[in-house]
Amino acid sequence: MHDTTPAMVIAVDGPAAAGKTTTSLVLARTFGLDYLESGKAFRVIACEALRRRRPVDDPDAIGNLCDELFADGDSGSVLASARYTPLALRSPDVTAAVPVVARMPDVRRHITALIHQWAAQHRRCIIEGRDIGTAVFPAAPVKFYLTATTEIRAARRVRQEPGHTYDIVLADVRRRDLADMTRTIAPLTPANDAIEIDTSRLTIRQVLHRMSAVCRTRGIDNPTPDNHISPASPATPST
Ligand code: DC
Repeated sequence: MHDTTPAMVIAVDGPAAAGKTTTSLVLARTFGLDYLESGKAFRVIACEALRRRRPVDDPDAIGNLCDELFADGDSGSVLASARYTPLALRSPDVTAAVPVVARMPDVRRHITALIHQWAAQHRRCIIEGRDIGTAVFPAAPVKFYLTATTEIRAARRVRQEPGHTYDIVLADVRRRDLADMTRTIAPLTPANDAIEIDTSRLTIRQVLHRMSAVCRTRGIDNPTPDNHISPASPATPST
């Protein structure tokens, strides 16, 4: 695969609710990096498939949908659409459909190209996802793989999204892990050179200290002297 690694990309991979979003956002602020949540692109495709009544399990139909969505070659305009609110992209229907589209070769090809295009325009960046360090940017200079037990990740989700019962969320986390880890193309797995952090028994602050130390060791410097990890950072990782 053509690796268009930009000047500096940090890959943050791992299963749902391992702490990727929370930590990536703080690291982005700390080190002055642009941030991309790659899962959003997969959710946009699932969301549009449902909205346009395309069969989500039909690779040809979803491949055509990708061609339509990304026809103008401007990845940013699709992802920036105001239509894709967190509420729309995180609806139960979209969450159920997204692993189905995420295993399709056409979808992964389109989204990999989209991420490469985005990264080429954001030369110092942090990108979270499932396959950033393994498939999208295998030569990324810093790769993290965050994980935690399924039970702890489910409990975090319940705290973030009150109203969902623990047992249902646990079953959902297990189902998504299985789908992400067992698909044929770009399955969720740590890159050989990824730094793995089990966040199960760590606070966000502890996770951030480990990640920041690695970044500094690898020569990623703070753009401004007053950037720091805020003690007020949320205690609960979101993805
Ligand atoms: O991070 P998330 O829950 O928003 O991701 C949504 C879906 O997209 C999930 O099924 C995993 C998939 N995904 C992926 O396959 N590769 C990525 N780089 C990011 C997300």
